[in-house]
Amino acid sequence: MIGLSGRVALVTGASRGIGRAIAVRLAGQGASLVAAARGDNAQRTVDEILSAGGAAEFIAMDVTEAGAADAAVKAMVERHGRIDILVNNAGIARDQLVLRMKRDDWEAVLATNLTAAFALTQAALKPMIKQRSGRLISISSVVGQGGNAGQANYAASKAGLIGFTKSVALEVASRGITANVVAPGLIDTDMTRAIAEDTRAEWASKVPLRRLGQPDDVAWAVCFLASDEASYITGQVVAVNGGMYM
Ligand SMILES: NC(=O)c1ccc[n+]([C@@H]2O[C@H](COP(=O)([O-])OP(=O)(O)OC[C@H]3O[C@@H](n4cnc5c(N)ncnc54)[C@H](OP(=O)(O)O)[C@@H]3O)[C@@H](O)[C@H]2O)c1
Repeated sequence: MIGLSGRVALVTGASRGIGRAIAVRLAGQGASLVAAARGDNAQRTVDEILSAGGAAEFIAMDVTEAGAADAAVKAMVERHGRIDILVNNAGIARDQLVLRMKRDDWEAVLATNLTAAFALTQAALKPMIKQRSGRLISISSVVGQGGNAGQANYAASKAGLIGFTKSVALEVASRGITANVVAPGLIDTDMTRAIAEDTRAEWASKVPLRRLGQPDDVAWAVCFLASDEASYITGQVVAVNGGMYM
């Protein structure tokens, strides 16, 4: 058991997939969860946490909207008095070869995957600096480490998260705040179910551990980084990829 009781956590993209698993696992370790997604999409995750005896509420949030990050963090601090853990997980892909990529698809991916993490981190840092503690965790990707043909926008956003996180880690280390990245490989979620089944199977066969990852594989790495036991780890990229990229 990783002790997170008394900690207040915000997880973006908590309606499904990896974000849902992170929210459920953090709450299972005792954290009070604020699950964010658009509209009331995160309500199902909250219901699941509540029915397991945990503490959770949802917040309606489009991470690309100006002011959304400040409003979400302000609401959390008003209600809970603090924010201990921020997980920047919300993400999208709009795949295309660079030659054919539309500027809108470049910008949408950067806005959701990278700029939103900047805005939320900036908002969360204010209370975290006052508390002199905090855990910033962003979900990058193996594609941000190794690149992928047809995903230049996505790879740029995920590599950007790595550079961003390392810089933030240096800026706030003296305040007792850590910032780390988790870089998943191929995980079984809606995002990868959008890929043709034969392509998925071919990719899975090339993973040294010979399977797709499950959302929980990522969630447990996040739980560890959020814990006191990880207090000496900052500015790192924790790969959860079955050995796909070493
Ligand atoms: N699956 C993989 O293989 C894989 C591998 C490496 C990294 N990742 C990363 O892991 C993260 C989660 O991926 P996933 O596979 O779980 O994806 P997913 O199943 O497609 O879920 C995406 C989540 O992001 C939220 N989201 C998207 N745009 C949003 C916006 N503008 N505002 C608020 N929430 C938004 C969605 O919420 P709504 O309910 O509002 O749509 C949903 O909860 C992403 O950052 C992804 O890039 C995934």
